[in-house]
Amino acid sequence: MSKKNKSFYVCNNCGYQSLRWLGKCPECSTWGSLEEQIIKKQSAHSAAGQSAAKLIPLNEKQNLSEKRIPTGINELDRVLGGGIVSGSIVMVGGDPGIGKSTIMLQMLDKMKDVDKKVYISGEESLSQIQQRARRLQITGQNIFFVNDTNLETILAALEKEKPGVVVIDSIQTIASENIDGIPGNSSQLRYCTAHLVQTAKQNQISIFLVGHVTKDGAIAGPKILEHIVDTVLYFEGDNQVDYRILRSTKNRFGAVNEIALFQMEKNGLIPVANPSEIFLNTDQNDRQGTAVVAVMEGNRPMLVEVQALVAKTQFGIPQRTATGIEHRRMNLLLAVLEKKCAKPFSFYDVFLKTAAGLKLDEPATDLGICMALISSMDELILANTTVYIGEVGLNGELRPVSRLQERINEAVKLGFKRIVIPKSKNRYQATSANIQIISRLQEIVN
Ligand code: TYD
Ligand code: MG
Repeated sequence: MSKKNKSFYVCNNCGYQSLRWLGKCPECSTWGSLEEQIIKKQSAHSAAGQSAAKLIPLNEKQNLSEKRIPTGINELDRVLGGGIVSGSIVMVGGDPGIGKSTIMLQMLDKMKDVDKKVYISGEESLSQIQQRARRLQITGQNIFFVNDTNLETILAALEKEKPGVVVIDSIQTIASENIDGIPGNSSQLRYCTAHLVQTAKQNQISIFLVGHVTKDGAIAGPKILEHIVDTVLYFEGDNQVDYRILRSTKNRFGAVNEIALFQMEKNGLIPVANPSEIFLNTDQNDRQGTAVVAVMEGNRPMLVEVQALVAKTQFGIPQRTATGIEHRRMNLLLAVLEKKCAKPFSFYDVFLKTAAGLKLDEPATDLGICMALISSMDELILANTTVYIGEVGLNGELRPVSRLQERINEAVKLGFKRIVIPKSKNRYQATSANIQIISRLQEIVN
């Protein structure tokens, strides 16, 4: 950017920057989301009179063992990479009503190793929170409530009280006096979060920031905060179904894409220890168009059902709908099946769906998706004891997948009898299941 510019525009949804105002963000296509940011004029840069930053040898001995605090919810600990790191900032994002406030309150209750726990709410009153606590059967011991949205008074309280853990629900309601604009705009969000990070690090306070993801971009999305915080967790799931997935998309202290599964019940979110149980419906009678795939969610293998419905197109262009599977990938697999396996999908409507809407973006699910499609088109029933693993190439060739052994082990553990895998140099240990190795889609389809 040229030095002459005194202002620029930032999309409050995705963080896209532009030198001029635009009605629609070219990056995320949100309308009216660009906000002006002023760059303060600075005197010519000079090092004279400045105190210099200190150079620290990289191999200088430090106390490397970071302190981890268990949250009391094993699933949450796993997603965080083994508990909360003292002094870290975790953002918990998700649609309104998905369960962010619920899990935060449950966590504060279960966290036994912390004496002082603070819940700051700008959204709900004390009586609302108490009502929720009663519903969750939370005693509220050592949990303190703050009903404030002013950043400066919150920071002062944190510095004075030095609680072990703080939940801010939500970051979009917090505002600083030093910044113009309403709470939740991108400058407020960035400023408040940066100051909270500083206070957290200096005082060894672990902070959870709740952030709403809004589709209309009216309130700045938590996306622009992702690079400031240490860990980002997103709640996924449909408000219609009662299971919820908490996924780490960034973690400075652990693996990403680690997931935790919860079920929303009348007294809160209950962890699900065996996720495959939710995504499999093995005793369903009509299994036409259903295939089982093995995916890795973070470090965890999971078996998931994919359903396809293929019906002759009555008129016009064939319909294509996919839930949980990327549209482009569905189209690619349909093209491979049409061209390489002589399946005339261009005359058929195709609907694809994963169990409970779980997002499947791993190529290792390709074979299973193809099998579900074929099963529906040819009215074939696939055994409910077979798992399909493999990536499909453009010529119909099957590609090896990573962590094959773990996927096989999970299938065997759940009693699957036949496992179809791609030919590869990857070794796997013999198991009780019947393993079928194929090198081309054509071998199994025709
Ligand atoms: P909430 O945690 O308020 O969502 P968020 O903070 O992400 O906006 O959860 C809201 C939904 O969860 C609400 O529709 C009611 C439901 N719920 C239950 O089903 N059981 C419970 O025990 C609680 C507290 C909420
Ligand atoms: Mg809430």
